[in-house]
Amino acid sequence: MKMPDKPIYITSPLLPSLEDLNRELKIIFSSKQLTNMGNYHNLLEQKLKDVLKLKGSLSLFNNGTIALMIALKVLNLAQGSEVITTPWTFAATPHCIVWNNLKPVFCDIKRDSMCIDPSQIEKHITKNTSAILGVHVYGFACDVEKIETIAKKYNLKVIYDAAHAFSSEIDAIGIGNFGDISMFSFHATKLFNTIEGGALAYPDKNLERQIYNFRNFGIRNEELVEEVGINGKLNELQAAVGLLNLKLFENEKQKRAKLKDFYDKTLSKIIGITIPKLASNIKNSYQYYPIIIENNFWTSRNELYDILRKVNIFTRKYFYPLCSDYECYKNLPSANAENLPVANELKNKVLCIPFYGDLPISIAEFICYKIAGN
Ligand SMILES: Cc1ncc(COP(=O)(O)O)c(C=O)c1O
Repeated sequence: MKMPDKPIYITSPLLPSLEDLNRELKIIFSSKQLTNMGNYHNLLEQKLKDVLKLKGSLSLFNNGTIALMIALKVLNLAQGSEVITTPWTFAATPHCIVWNNLKPVFCDIKRDSMCIDPSQIEKHITKNTSAILGVHVYGFACDVEKIETIAKKYNLKVIYDAAHAFSSEIDAIGIGNFGDISMFSFHATKLFNTIEGGALAYPDKNLERQIYNFRNFGIRNEELVEEVGINGKLNELQAAVGLLNLKLFENEKQKRAKLKDFYDKTLSKIIGITIPKLASNIKNSYQYYPIIIENNFWTSRNELYDILRKVNIFTRKYFYPLCSDYECYKNLPSANAENLPVANELKNKVLCIPFYGDLPISIAEFICYKIAGN
């Protein structure tokens, strides 16, 4: 088998045709409305509510990080209070907590879903706890029922970082319907993208006004500034890309589902590889394809990463380092490795391998061939 002649990354952005995009750009350019909640923005907001099967509201943002910052802000959590979250995520998750003057408290994850482990949450609850921030990592789903039960018992808010979970479902319910607020990211690396972008989904329509304000400097109208907002607006060009990509993402998902079948069948034959299995009531977003390199695999995760790199296959160690290992968090009491045994074990074992619809099957075969030790 031949190594690819160009670098193969773990994902490749879904892009509309230039012809289609140009058609929309002509309309936007002649309208001269480039941003500030224009027609494309409003149409995308409407369409996403259906696509994500939301019963409540949806607000678009210029990226997922600003959206998550506003989610934490709008819930009015007590200043300086603690938010229980997971170290198994991208930097933005704990950073948004800190940017809100709140304190992240790291809770361990489950080995199967790699999402926050509900059985470990209660031991972190103190009189200062105000919220739980779970992450539907890779598009797998948190145990939303158990998290809701705990949140009700202790009167906590629940926020989900659903950056990876575009169109994931639990029991055929859109994943954005759970918790108080969910954040989706539409970054170029995501299944559905607007180049940069994001959204908040929330069942409580009463939050709509404040979320609108926070996204727009707190400005309600020309003469009324209601609060200290920020600039979180998605522009018309991003919205146009989003509207075109909405027509493409289902097909992309089908292609990824086929690729997943191939990887599952081929890699499950290799000793020492565990492929995370989703519960049957969860619909996957096919955001990433993680594998666990167990101790009885023929080499270590890090060596496999290096071996693949040398043959133009660029995998990612999501999530190494853990957020709890970052300079800015490593001294928190909850960052102690003894508190996070599963996350600390898996940070040396998980590898996300190339996973996108246009990945040629010959390259997927080559990746499996190398993983098998050839
Ligand atoms: C889990 C997670 N949370 C938050 C973000 C931040 O989203 P954005 O890049 O849209 O700001 C990302 C990634 O991009 C992510 O992977």
